Amino acid sequence: MSKIATLTIDGKSYEFPVVVGTENEVAIDIKSLRGVTGGVTTLDPGYKNTGSCESAITFLNGEEGILRYRGYSIEELAEKADFLEVAYLLIFGELPTKEQLDKFHNDIKAQSQVDEDIKKILDGFPKAAHPMGVMSALTSALIAFNPTSVNVDSEEEMYQAIVRIMGKFPVLTAWTYRKRAGLPLDYGDDSLGYVDNFLKMMFKKPNGEYTSNKTVVNALDKLLILHADHEQNCSTSTVRMVGSSHAGLFASLSAGINALWGPLHGGANQAVIEMLEAIKSDGGDTHKFMNKAKDKEDPFRLMGFGHRVYKNFDPRAKIIKKSADDVLSALGVQDPILDIAKGLEKEALEDSYFVDRKLYPNVDFYSGIIYRAMGIPVEMFTPMFSLGRLPGWIAQWREMRLKKEPIGRPRQVYIGENLRSFKPVDKR
Ligand code: SDX
Repeated sequence: MSKIATLTIDGKSYEFPVVVGTENEVAIDIKSLRGVTGGVTTLDPGYKNTGSCESAITFLNGEEGILRYRGYSIEELAEKADFLEVAYLLIFGELPTKEQLDKFHNDIKAQSQVDEDIKKILDGFPKAAHPMGVMSALTSALIAFNPTSVNVDSEEEMYQAIVRIMGKFPVLTAWTYRKRAGLPLDYGDDSLGYVDNFLKMMFKKPNGEYTSNKTVVNALDKLLILHADHEQNCSTSTVRMVGSSHAGLFASLSAGINALWGPLHGGANQAVIEMLEAIKSDGGDTHKFMNKAKDKEDPFRLMGFGHRVYKNFDPRAKIIKKSADDVLSALGVQDPILDIAKGLEKEALEDSYFVDRKLYPNVDFYSGIIYRAMGIPVEMFTPMFSLGRLPGWIAQWREMRLKKEPIGRPRQVYIGENLRSFKPVDKR
């Protein structure tokens, strides 16, 4: 592989270094482009061909359907690790020893109290408020109650901010759900594991004891691992962009929550269930909805299908699909929309429109079916995605800050009016 790329503009040639990553990804380093060419930039809407950074956290190969966190395959981590271990791996770069993991969990537990005044902010929202809007507001509000987590420059200050948000985010997520459900807020139990404690905060009945359901705990632990990071996706790029101005960690995460909310991104897991329900109530005719998805005049898209990077099966979708069968049978849940989903997948994978465009089920296609079987309402699906993605956002923010990356500030190509003079209103 040549270490130099040559660009010729107006007959003049310019050379740029070629960067090759540890998995042989090749990039042209154009840091000097504007300077050496007198102002020429690149244009790449949606950054489909543009690398924003060098990162050592997550590796994706979209053509082969590979996903690895810090070099470990998603298949192995989903099967053998637990979510807190994976969070530690993503953030600090190595799988923790037992002592490191226990300290991390204890430091998180020590930070899992939320200021009682946060409840006043939560009470200010109407019950019908979308939980993602509530969560981005509460995450931002944490800044006011944790001022030492705002300007974090040292690794120690970052660590304290990290365990603080890892401790408080599950509480805020569970409280957001219980507020909507009209249930009293529950504080959890420090003797439980991270995921088990979250489920207790979500589902403990005010007039009953909480009993852990191992199937549900293990299924949610796996789902959170599968959602934990995904290199430079829309919401992670947002967290990096906001963090690059040295806004604090909580402010950056709040922005990431809002980016994930969109139906083209994390909001798709909610949109998938709404789509499958629509197909079911319409008589289960998947073919009609397939035609809508292929009709360019129709804005309808097959939610949970397609991906910017994966042009093969999303490896997470494969694992979640299998887990859906296991969890529903373990819970004795019959959900007709699982069969509709499988039918839709089969039909799409035999349809040239989807095959030609390499549109396969993504992480959002089956996840909602498991959340629903666990008793999680559809409007809480994207907050569950946020809970899983939290360590990935933190890891990417920390890497960007520790590498002292410059503030993000893309250029543009101006296509507006050329210089013109102001006309008084009576002359227009
Ligand atoms: C996530 O980036 C990440 O890593 C994200 C994520 C993560 O972990 O962070 O993986 C999580 O966001 C998963 C994606 C969830 N979104 C959805 O399921 C929404 C439905 N999918 C699409 O909207 C779409 O596939 C995207 C947004 C996911 C990707 O869009 P791209 O890469 O910009 O692709 P495109 O819109 O240019 O589509 C290429 C072609 C177009 O047709 P043509 O113009 O070539 O004729 O494929 C078509 C599109 O119309 N197409 C679809 C489709 N997705 C793409 N047609 C019907 N249904 C779809 N779902």
